[in-house]
Amino acid sequence: MKDANSSRSAHHHGSRDAFGSSFGVLVALAGSAVGLGNLWRFPYLVGENGGAAFIIIYLAFVILIGIPMLMSEFIIGRRSQANARGAFNKLAPGSRWGIAGILAVICCILILSFYSVVGGWGIEYLFKAFRFDFTRGGDSAALSSIFSDFAASSWQPLVCHTLFLLLSGLIVILGVKNGIEKFSKVMMPLLFLIIIGIAVRSLTLPGAGAGIDYLFRPDWSEVTANTFLAALGQAFFSLSLGSGMAITYGSYVSRKENIVSISSQTALADTLFALIAGCAIMPAVFAYGISPGEGPGLVFITLPHIFSQLPLGGVIAILFFVALLLAALTSSISLLEVIVAFCIEEFHIKRRTAVVLSLSILWILGCLCSLSQGMLSGWKIFDKTIFDLFDFVSANVLMLIGGLLVVLFVGWKLGRQVIHDELTNSGALRIPVWLLDTITFLVRYLAPAAIITIAVFQWI
Ligand code: PHE
Repeated sequence: MKDANSSRSAHHHGSRDAFGSSFGVLVALAGSAVGLGNLWRFPYLVGENGGAAFIIIYLAFVILIGIPMLMSEFIIGRRSQANARGAFNKLAPGSRWGIAGILAVICCILILSFYSVVGGWGIEYLFKAFRFDFTRGGDSAALSSIFSDFAASSWQPLVCHTLFLLLSGLIVILGVKNGIEKFSKVMMPLLFLIIIGIAVRSLTLPGAGAGIDYLFRPDWSEVTANTFLAALGQAFFSLSLGSGMAITYGSYVSRKENIVSISSQTALADTLFALIAGCAIMPAVFAYGISPGEGPGLVFITLPHIFSQLPLGGVIAILFFVALLLAALTSSISLLEVIVAFCIEEFHIKRRTAVVLSLSILWILGCLCSLSQGMLSGWKIFDKTIFDLFDFVSANVLMLIGGLLVVLFVGWKLGRQVIHDELTNSGALRIPVWLLDTITFLVRYLAPAAIITIAVFQWI
């Protein structure tokens, strides 16, 4: 193991890829965080879990657990300048902490498998939007069957899924600075503009008020133990926590960047985007008298109905699916980068080889996920289709375990001194001591306690 560590820097001639600017770091991180989790998962979870009450619990988790955990992952990545597994091995040589990194890589593989399927649906829907399929005046039964016909057919979703993976691969092959950073710098601002535009359209519909009420007026009677698990799972998923993303991206960040502010800005951008996406979707859902608790089909089944009736619906549909695709891509490249960085450094292979290797595995797993919506829907493990199983195991199991290990590692193994040192860049940044102490407390006690409590509730 020591041998591998010492040969690593020689192997890479000490020239690791890195982000070129602070803005680049922020857009790349926000790009990872803002994704299908915000546009597809958040709205339907809000719908299923009773609206504003869920949002408030979610916000509390983001602030109390999400941000400190993001900082913790950052600390691991920046301090070690290595991939998710290598990072643990470098900071705790000879220990078993590397397993935490391997779990993170597995988590990313599972997420990207179904993520690329949903991303593929986005590509298909974008085509449909360009053909004005949603607004051509088909009856509502025809609109309803668009999704089920498409998702259940075999080859079409597979083609789109393949296309989506290839697009992600193309960006990641270009590297961190020339691929990921460049892409995010252009696409993230565009993405925010589009979603704000759609929210304005939606909020100005007659009858939009009911949607706003639903989003912002809490109904505590709907809250159960499950609401907390769903909210925590969503906070993890949406902030890309416990997946090694911030370890990997953090390893490309220079020692001059301010971890406290990058982490807070990332969480802020992600949360704002989720809320704006909520404002884009819920008012329209209510204005057209559709039930918000539609589940995972909300974006793909319900929205087309709305586009079909909405003034300018055809254009809005195009914009919406462009946004969905961009959001999905900036996240999928981060998932892929975790896997690719791991392969490059742990197997000592070239970036290009690593991308091809990862894509091959992801393609096969993704095909299984895709087919489990149709042909293979009878294949059930623990009563879940492969698709649902991957989603559940990654967001509600692996990310929680990964995140727990991260805060335990930073809070107890690295310890208070290292946290203070990293957050202040060895004293160069003026960060109030009470803030450092609060963060340390959250990392050491609150985050682990909350995760364990919620996991125990869920799993018994
Ligand atoms: N945060 C992304 C989203 O909200 C998903 C993701 C999870 C990306 C883990 C990277 C790592 O869609």
